[in-house]
Amino acid sequence: MNQLRNILIITLLTLPCHSRANEAEIERRVEEMMAKLTVERKIDLIGGVDGFYIRSLPEIGLPKMRLMDASVGVRSAGPSTAYAASIALAATWNPELAQEVGTGIGRDARARGAHFLLGPGVNIYRAPQGGRNFEYLGEDPLLAARLAVGYIRGIQSQGVIATVKHFMGNNSEFDRHHTNSIIDERTKREIYLPAFEAAVKEADVGAIMSSYNLVDGTYASHHKPLLEGVLKGEWGFRGIVMSDWSAVHDGIAAANAGMDLEMPSASFMNRELLLPALKDDRVSQATIDDKVRRILRTALRFGFFERQQQDLTIPLNDPRGRELAAREAEESIVLLKNEGILPLKKDSIRKIAVIGPSAYPAVVGGGGSSQVTPFAGISALEGITDFLGKDAVVMYDRGLLPMSEVLAKTRFTPVGGGSGPAVKIEQFSTNNLSGLPVSIRSSNGIALFAEDPTGPDELGQPFSSVRYTTTLVPEKSGMHHFFANVSTRDGYRLFLDDQVILSRSLDKSSSMLCHSMPLLAGRTYVLRFEVEFGQRWGPNKVEVGEIANEDLLTPTAQLMAAQADVAVVVAGYDTATEAESYDRTFALPVGQDPLIQSVAALNTHTIVALVAGGAVDTAGWLDRVPALLHLWYPGQEGGRALAKVLFGEISPSGHLPISWEKTWAENPVHHSYYINGKGNDVHYSEGVFVGYRGYEQNRIKPLFPFGYGMSYSSFRYTNLKISPQNARIGETVSLSFDVTNAGNMLADDVAQLYLGDPVASVPRPPKELKGFQRVSLKPGETTTVSFLIDPRARSFYDITTKEWKQEPGAFTVFVGPSSAEIPLTGTFQVKK
Ligand code: BGC
Repeated sequence: MNQLRNILIITLLTLPCHSRANEAEIERRVEEMMAKLTVERKIDLIGGVDGFYIRSLPEIGLPKMRLMDASVGVRSAGPSTAYAASIALAATWNPELAQEVGTGIGRDARARGAHFLLGPGVNIYRAPQGGRNFEYLGEDPLLAARLAVGYIRGIQSQGVIATVKHFMGNNSEFDRHHTNSIIDERTKREIYLPAFEAAVKEADVGAIMSSYNLVDGTYASHHKPLLEGVLKGEWGFRGIVMSDWSAVHDGIAAANAGMDLEMPSASFMNRELLLPALKDDRVSQATIDDKVRRILRTALRFGFFERQQQDLTIPLNDPRGRELAAREAEESIVLLKNEGILPLKKDSIRKIAVIGPSAYPAVVGGGGSSQVTPFAGISALEGITDFLGKDAVVMYDRGLLPMSEVLAKTRFTPVGGGSGPAVKIEQFSTNNLSGLPVSIRSSNGIALFAEDPTGPDELGQPFSSVRYTTTLVPEKSGMHHFFANVSTRDGYRLFLDDQVILSRSLDKSSSMLCHSMPLLAGRTYVLRFEVEFGQRWGPNKVEVGEIANEDLLTPTAQLMAAQADVAVVVAGYDTATEAESYDRTFALPVGQDPLIQSVAALNTHTIVALVAGGAVDTAGWLDRVPALLHLWYPGQEGGRALAKVLFGEISPSGHLPISWEKTWAENPVHHSYYINGKGNDVHYSEGVFVGYRGYEQNRIKPLFPFGYGMSYSSFRYTNLKISPQNARIGETVSLSFDVTNAGNMLADDVAQLYLGDPVASVPRPPKELKGFQRVSLKPGETTTVSFLIDPRARSFYDITTKEWKQEPGAFTVFVGPSSAEIPLTGTFQVKK
């Protein structure tokens, strides 16, 4: 009988979605445990331990709980399934698949004993440079919300707590610990909060992680109006607010603001600080108790008191994960351009050249804490080779020298000729190269690393600047590339004969910048590089290099391109060039534009496949290639998925979860993305007009619009029905239409519904996504897609009443396969 009772309790408690009866039992047990804990032990619980754990409290039977990173798979417990990155998941527009992927990641977590997964990331994509775009779900709040809900439900269905992050305003990685995101209230509610809101209200997420940045002048981890006010107060969040790793700066401010758990350790929310604060009422006991209750309640809700979290019956290298990762990659690849070349016909290809730095080995994800090492990652080269078998010759070459070799090949000459070290280095105690240098030395190259004794620390000064001067005498005439890399936010300029050719103030990316220009053999060019270190001298790297185009591109790739029936160039970023903690460049990494140009010049059948977390500058080559595919970071099965799409075994079906700009300048956040106010202020001055909302408002056509993606089939949209045509203000409007596969191949499309409110008392975007449905149709097949448009979907956030407000009048309905292709339109009226 007792055993039966235990089983019953275990079943009740392990169900992640808690019923009321079960809730009462949880609360009863929480109180029972609270009574057994001293104030010291309570404080011990609210700070992490050992990097990725919450400490155990044996006196109440609480086990030590383990946290693992999980944006794109489970990290830090050896190899694991590497799913396609979250931005690729967003490109599938498939919330059911998101739930399956979440379930898969949840299973992987159970196999490894994780109690918490630190994902999903749901911050909105504003600009292609965002270093963590690949970990997030695109530019639209509804799309991000739907996918996040699926993903969280999947994870939590496995008895693992999901942690939605980073709350909030982390939309760039540039100087992420110091930037201050200033976002007006309406924009927060309409654009930056909905995915978090859905995670809380619909998916009942167990934990939320604050971001590093400040919001409106206060660290997100100390932000009472957001944490206590919006999250816990308005949305009724009952789970745990944890800080990002070392994102708490003041234990009392954080504790009073609603921070429940300081990670990775109790640097501030500890006994030393909080016990005296409790004594003199700077923090109340109720405040501490609430945090403890939240942690215990969540642990009970997920059954951690009752079972071993590690489930040894789940395979570490799970075939279900492989299958899911493959489906996700297949559904996420976006065909952006196809001038009749795709799909390739297997029978007519004898030789195919696979070229590019991302062609092999597999680039499964971007860099940083989301990085997962798979048991086996299938590169584009392997995917294509496996697909073709012995039927064709697959030639492969990287196409470009690796950067380390380019750096090693860079040759400078001493100013005025002669022998000896080529580079004169002058260091200044000021941060702007003023005054006399405090040291002058020389070396053979321009490189400086954190441990280098020439760093500012060595000078004993808080500020420092440095000037490198040398000359360059090219051996070859023709195009040359210069590149510079300074790994912090510090400003720098590279001059060639007194002309600035690279400047950090123009491009704030912390990855390598490149400038290409023609040089003459034998001429002497004076090169000057100036770096102004700011106060935040951190892990540093300074590198400057130069190379002639013909030395950068490998001759083998050129020969292959010339001989092959088809060339596939797989280009893009990797864990070193697109990663957490810095922003990347909009331009492809050094040498990749020239590589694509040279292959395209040698082979008219050149297909480009890009690996990137978002849009990329294609201006240098897009009109020279007949086809372009976007792979995002496709996870461990990416190479196989690419081969299936290239050869038409499946039709491409991913659609852009972002708008893709022709030039960075036309992006609606171009003037507001980087620090644009005083100090570190980033004013989101475009308001709600971010992404397609902004392009349409500004009447700028992007290169590829939000929602866009080509297919090998074609689809017809007909029969739009809206009911009622005249709705009352509180009434939900239903809408349906038919989608027909008018082509001759089984294919998926993503039907999208946008709404416009042309006459409103506040400026509203011309159209906003209000529904979407991925449909899979056989040739000739038709399906009916239906949506409900409830009052909230028609509303804007009214800052005066602090409520969602719907205004009577006409609403326009737009239906189609992208935000720019709208075969069906209609209207309905909303009456008072
Ligand atoms: C990242 C988080 C991550 C944490 C733990 C931080 O630097 O911002 O997203 O979960 O590290 O790895």
